[in-house]
Amino acid sequence: MKDFSILEAFQDNANRREELSIDWQGFYLDYSKHLVNQEIMDGLFSLAKESKLLQGIESMFDGSKINVTENRAVLHTALRVPKDKTVVFEGKDVVPEVHEVLESMYSFAEKVHAGTLKGATGKAIEHVVNIGIGGSDLGPVMIYEALKQQKLHLKTSFVSNVDGFHLEQKLRDLDPETTLVIVVSKTFTTQETMANAHAAKDWLREAIGDSGIGNHLAAVSTNVAAASKFGIPQERVFGFWNWVGGRYSLWGAVGLSLILSYGREVFEELLSGAFAMDSHFKATPLEKNMPVVMALLGIWYNNFLDARSHAVLPYVQALSRFPAYLQQADMESNGKSVSKRGIQVDYQTGPIVWGEPGTNGQHAFYQLIHQGTKLIPADFIISAKAHSKYQDHHLKLMANCIAQGEALMKGKSEEEAKEEMRNKGISNDEIERLAPFKTFSGNRPSSAIVMDQLDPKNLGALVALYEHKIFVQGWVWDVYSYDQWGVELGKQLASKVLIELNNEVELDHDESTNYLIQKLKEAQVKS
Ligand code: F6P
Repeated sequence: MKDFSILEAFQDNANRREELSIDWQGFYLDYSKHLVNQEIMDGLFSLAKESKLLQGIESMFDGSKINVTENRAVLHTALRVPKDKTVVFEGKDVVPEVHEVLESMYSFAEKVHAGTLKGATGKAIEHVVNIGIGGSDLGPVMIYEALKQQKLHLKTSFVSNVDGFHLEQKLRDLDPETTLVIVVSKTFTTQETMANAHAAKDWLREAIGDSGIGNHLAAVSTNVAAASKFGIPQERVFGFWNWVGGRYSLWGAVGLSLILSYGREVFEELLSGAFAMDSHFKATPLEKNMPVVMALLGIWYNNFLDARSHAVLPYVQALSRFPAYLQQADMESNGKSVSKRGIQVDYQTGPIVWGEPGTNGQHAFYQLIHQGTKLIPADFIISAKAHSKYQDHHLKLMANCIAQGEALMKGKSEEEAKEEMRNKGISNDEIERLAPFKTFSGNRPSSAIVMDQLDPKNLGALVALYEHKIFVQGWVWDVYSYDQWGVELGKQLASKVLIELNNEVELDHDESTNYLIQKLKEAQVKS
């Protein structure tokens, strides 16, 4: 494939676009601008078959404990299953419990909207604060931003960082008497979330007093006991299950702030879109299966063409937090270097995922994608329909997006660059001098993922599409995608450093770390 030219491949095969694209329920994936042909795709499909992908997909959906190192099933898909279906886990249908929690959230939100559930001083709730981090923040905040064109019942502010400024800044303009604080934490032990939750509780207590703060709190956790102990009334604790990974959890109780903000119907649509994608993923042959094709393309670049990163470039401002959400979903899942057999892998696994909405990115980092030394496959995500009253803006947005895909593929030859300068009347010497800089190698790959529109249903499907892409890649790479031991060491060391920052103890780290602790400790004393 060294000399493969995407442009020539189009010239050689009049059906290329049709062969390398998938149409599915309001989604269109065009992967014809990739460094692949049918032979390569067939090879990748064989690789998927060889890795027993179909068996893998089945084992995720049927509740097998594929999160082996934590001895857990991976059943976030059960959170979006309609009421009349069954998902049996350990001999029990979990769908009724899932819907029981959903109903309790809907009913809670309806009462808040109707003003039946008020604050302690009799005022209606007007604002929600979601306190959580990682999966307890990134999913909800991404969806919250993406749905901003929907009717908003209640505004939500998201607080995640343990930098106190985050909380301070979000609470600054809020009235505790009309604010509902939701503490979202799967474990209910996460340092950042608990620090913010305690501080927010103090903020409420100062204004309302101890007895009424229960009216201003709710919690989402698998650790219901810890949430109750924190002082949140039992009926305001919304649970979920260990078979839901934190970064895959927005579909259940973790979506409480979304239900409060956008209401039941919107959330149901989101779930229905994800469920539709689940059904597509489960039932479609590999060759026309969107998540599978996207995953295999990623494997092609990562493992065969030495690409190290993957850019996600939504030409939809509402998806501004999608790349950040995806970074956790993808990199926390597949950023692993030990195979399922417990041995160090000798091949690449999860890529670096990054991106920003277009057209902003064009004026920031696209230079590197076009002319840099790295191969960076990119996903352009597009909503065919405009989501603002400015139709002209939308056409400009689309034009830019389409042009970027074309420019990456076509490039500009040295001769073309020279010709362009000649037409501008630039001198020959100058043309010779500038030509190398104005040349684009081209042949740089990208996908176009076009949705009819960014509505809640398509949004649900889009998120599920990437979730399943991540699953497929982890499966083929033979890593456990649903644990995250790599985040533990930092947490452990931070607890030790925190004690050292707070107390006079002898420091036993390396010299650099000792000095940093000392320096920052002194700065605290001075301030
Ligand atoms: O730091 C990793 C992590 O465990 C994520 O996987 C998780 O989404 C996040 O922390 C927050 O965890 P919790 O929801 O338990 O507070």
